[in-house]
Amino acid sequence: MCGIIGYVGEQQALPILMDALRRLEYRGYDSAGVAVLDGGLQVVRKAGKLDELDKELAPSGLHGTTGIGHTRWATHGPPTDENAHPHSDCDGRIAVIHNGILENFLELRAELEAEGHTLGSDTDTEAIAHLIEAVYDGDIVAATRKALTRLSGAFSIAVVAAGEPDVVVAAKRTSPLIVGRGDHGTLLASDPTALIPYTRDVVHLLDDQVAVIRREGFEITTLDGAPAEGTAIHIDWDLEAAEKGGYDDFMLKEIYEQPGAVADSLRGRLRGGRLHLDEVRLSEEELRGIDKVFVVACGSAYNAGLVAKYAIEHWCRVPVEIDISSEFRYRDPVLGKDTLAVAVSQSGETIDTLEAVRHARRQRAKVIAVSNTVGSSIPREADGVLYTQAGPEVGVAATKTFITQMVVLKLLALYLAQVRGTIYPEEIARIVEDLESLEGKVETVLGSRQQVRGIAEEIHQAADVLFLGRHVGFPLALEGALKLKEISYIHAEGYAAGELKHGPIALISEGTPVVVVATQCHVYAKVIANIQEVKARGARVIAVATEGDTEVAKHADHVITVPSTHELLTPELVVVPLQFLSYEIAKMRGCDVDKPRNLAKSVTVE
Ligand code: M6R
Repeated sequence: MCGIIGYVGEQQALPILMDALRRLEYRGYDSAGVAVLDGGLQVVRKAGKLDELDKELAPSGLHGTTGIGHTRWATHGPPTDENAHPHSDCDGRIAVIHNGILENFLELRAELEAEGHTLGSDTDTEAIAHLIEAVYDGDIVAATRKALTRLSGAFSIAVVAAGEPDVVVAAKRTSPLIVGRGDHGTLLASDPTALIPYTRDVVHLLDDQVAVIRREGFEITTLDGAPAEGTAIHIDWDLEAAEKGGYDDFMLKEIYEQPGAVADSLRGRLRGGRLHLDEVRLSEEELRGIDKVFVVACGSAYNAGLVAKYAIEHWCRVPVEIDISSEFRYRDPVLGKDTLAVAVSQSGETIDTLEAVRHARRQRAKVIAVSNTVGSSIPREADGVLYTQAGPEVGVAATKTFITQMVVLKLLALYLAQVRGTIYPEEIARIVEDLESLEGKVETVLGSRQQVRGIAEEIHQAADVLFLGRHVGFPLALEGALKLKEISYIHAEGYAAGELKHGPIALISEGTPVVVVATQCHVYAKVIANIQEVKARGARVIAVATEGDTEVAKHADHVITVPSTHELLTPELVVVPLQFLSYEIAKMRGCDVDKPRNLAKSVTVE
């Protein structure tokens, strides 16, 4: 999510740091900052784009040949100067930049404050600077190693200390970090794009490795200080390919980032078989008093919200209405102080959803936002917020933000059930296990791309494609159709499979592609019957089914399988082949998948 750069060398660090940060801009960010050592430690950080930081640095700049720089994509606390990195200790002698999410930062923060440390930001990162300070006795490498043993969660960090002018310490767990030696110094970064002008031979650190960066080179060790080796690679991509991580498009990169995005969105929220959602900011008493839930959203976020309706009603036994945001306030919905409105928006800026939030609040309803953008308008105006941790999504088509919306909405549903006591704790613990296994299962489904490409070759010239599903397969049918029309410009419709006979079946003629969500569930037999109905009328059926299903192959032309999971979690797996299908078809038709015509990433007009 965040961008990281570090340099120790013969040249002035600041121009190198700023140049690298500019090349990391494509990742998306909301604030930036640098720290440069010149005997002392100088830190400048600013909310906003790099131009804002540039203005703050002018006219004299910072002088010194060692430094670190950061572009922030907010995860804890809004984009403000105080929350921008680098973060420092109480005396301003240690500076830390961080990419990732610490799971135990609330405990660490409480402990540090009890010991007398003063923390001035909302971030998880600042705790790292104070943890290092607490054990620092003149050796920043040793102190960083000690502090790292206290961290749980995901991180890549870089650290500098005022009294040690020629060293940067870096370490990683889960989040990426690379190091490389250039002609005039040694560098570290979160992303190869930052290093391309300096070196194309880099080393990827492995989890729980520490790199000590000095002018003449770098040394990699384990957390205990034992010699270790990372993975050396030569980057032969050009800059554009590097920004896309070697993928052809941002959309494809973002599809492949989904296992990590799912894991990040669960991080710190599941402990001991229970849900911990401190960010909801509504008391348990208030949540127990809720007698109705409204979900409001647009586009893919609406489809994620529709999946959530099934989960909330099933687990919490509370009625859920779902509205397209632009319809919500004009139909005069019945809201009151015991209504919970859940506003889902990756950008947090969609104007119709924002107006729906305002309408709900005027009617005294409680509002929880689900968003991917910390500090955006919808979370700001809501009572509570649950952030998806997908990282910036560049492609216009929602992929990793859609899957994480579904995950986070399930967390909310389960949390409501936990608070209201509508499911036994053992059942919650079982579902928590299923949630924890999602990352690996999404990874498995990414293996379907080759098969899906073959299917795309067969159907990419179709004029119409129908998507069908029942129960949670229905919102997935809507999402599959939305994705296909949005990026390939093929006419596509998503329907509840049971609605077929009430009109859409007239669309089917010889060879019409019909994509059916046919995973194992309590309405599986009915879905098979629907497949038979379309097959009898000449449809070419592409079924997404559960691994081990031998029945569906008797009726469908193609079967793509996904691993078995809890019925309400199947959408997180089914969506992946649907994304691949629209992606492959759009590419075969020569469409720009990242910037489809007529569409914008954030829709801020009604
Ligand atoms: O930022 P939001 O989640 O509020 O955006 C909602 C829709 O505009 C968005 O999901 C749109 O439908 C996507 N392009 C779908 O891929």
